[in-house]
Amino acid sequence: MRALLVYHSRTGATERLIKSIGRALEGRGHRVEYHKLEAKRPMGWFASSWAAFRKRETDLAEDMPKSLRMYELVLIAGPVIAGKTSAELNAFLNNMPDGIGRRFGVFATSGSGAAEGPLRSMKSRIEHVGGFIIYEDVVKRQIAMDPEACTRRAEEIAEQLVRPWVW
Ligand SMILES: Cc1cc2nc3c(=O)[nH]c(=O)nc-3n(C[C@H](O)[C@H](O)[C@H](O)COP(=O)(O)O)c2cc1C
Repeated sequence: MRALLVYHSRTGATERLIKSIGRALEGRGHRVEYHKLEAKRPMGWFASSWAAFRKRETDLAEDMPKSLRMYELVLIAGPVIAGKTSAELNAFLNNMPDGIGRRFGVFATSGSGAAEGPLRSMKSRIEHVGGFIIYEDVVKRQIAMDPEACTRRAEEIAEQLVRPWVW
């Protein structure tokens, strides 16, 4: 299958895990493309927390993918910021091109706080545009930053994403 991995990563944890999942999918014979969400004007910690807390979007450095139609799977991931999704992730999720009928996986990476709220908010925006959620997860930063734990978790996630009964 052809998979698009869309992610925001402020300090590298989400990126480590997403790249590891990409490699695990490629190892299973799938085609993987990445789309990294970055703010046109990078924000400091306070500004990014305030923007996330207020559910704001930020202008992105790169254009959004024009269409998702050619991807069988879209995996979307980002960090929990101030208990919410980041402004970069909001910019994507609030303006997503044609998600209808697509299969989506979502995960959030977090520090020590709860991530159910941001995960729910990611899922509801995907479902709002007609996407199906086939996988959801919350991964602690310390797992993403530990090479062995990260690879192990990525393999488990890849296995879940391609499990036969959702296809
Ligand atoms: C500005 C900022 C705000 C954060 N707010 C939270 C939070 O509210 N709850 C939480 O569990 N983790 C919080 N974290 C921790 C991140 O969610 C966690 O480190 C995550 O793995 C970072 O992913 P990244 O390296 O891909 O950006 C915050 C981190 C930053 C930099």
